[in-house]
Amino acid sequence: MIQFHVDEERCIQCGECEVECPAGVITLEDFPKITDEEGCLQCQHCLAVCPTAAISILGKNPDESVALAGNMPDPAGLVTLIKGRRSVRRYKEEDLPPELIDELLDIACHAPTGVNARGVLFTVVNKRAVMNSLRTEVMARLAKLKDSGQLPEGFIGQYLGRAVKAWQESGMDIIFRGAPHLLVTSAPQDAPCPVQDTHIALTTFQLMAHARGVGTVWDGLFMMVISLCPDLIPRLGIPANHILGYAMAFGAPAVEFHRTVQRGPAQVNVVSR
Ligand SMILES: Cc1cc2nc3c(=O)[nH]c(=O)nc-3n(C[C@H](O)[C@H](O)[C@H](O)COP(=O)(O)O)c2cc1C
Repeated sequence: MIQFHVDEERCIQCGECEVECPAGVITLEDFPKITDEEGCLQCQHCLAVCPTAAISILGKNPDESVALAGNMPDPAGLVTLIKGRRSVRRYKEEDLPPELIDELLDIACHAPTGVNARGVLFTVVNKRAVMNSLRTEVMARLAKLKDSGQLPEGFIGQYLGRAVKAWQESGMDIIFRGAPHLLVTSAPQDAPCPVQDTHIALTTFQLMAHARGVGTVWDGLFMMVISLCPDLIPRLGIPANHILGYAMAFGAPAVEFHRTVQRGPAQVNVVSR
């Protein structure tokens, strides 16, 4: 049940909901009606586009949405966020407040997903003590692979071999960069775009994290570890029918950047015919 409800006292019969509905399942007969509940994408565009907040769907009260007029961020600030975000590889040895992690995840789940499938699972290590156990376990697994000559040839084996050495010799964690928290995204393999959905969700999480003063780093090294030790996937509680997205380490940064880097120009290929 999608619980589509129109407040007829508020509705001005402008038809915006009918025109905007990407699934074409709203028709205006005096007031808006849903013609095909099954076809509804549950995207809430009808609730969002209604100028008089007359439409409720999925039990959502439109008055509880944030009004957009006057509340959008200043573009220059967003540019600074995008250009000023840096991979953080030094972290304070402290937990982030759990409410802050929850807030970031709640925002990240607003990221777009193919066909609005919204199946992304956020597997999070939200306590430093748990992260430290995982860190120790992963390093022990890697050391075992190294000692038994099971690290692969090539750059993956070289990177991971160096990571084991750094951990054993100086307690330096190159895999998770000493971060107190970890986020791994996954999505059901039968979702229309599971891999893309997981990456977009992590990118959204990352930008919002930096806006809130939280450092992050995409964790390709941990992804390499997972490729060698796939039993880590159920170990993390990720369902068997999920496609793994990516991992991101995060926490309170112990480094401060003072200016943006200077990249570009963008590599552009203009299609002209
Ligand atoms: C898919 C992906 C995987 C990455 N994996 C790692 C990693 O395992 N360890 C690490 O320190 N940085 C990792 N990075 C961070 C990149 O090295 C970093 O984004 C790049 O050097 C640019 O620096 P910036 O993020 O500060 O702009 C990864 C980045 C991406 C996008």
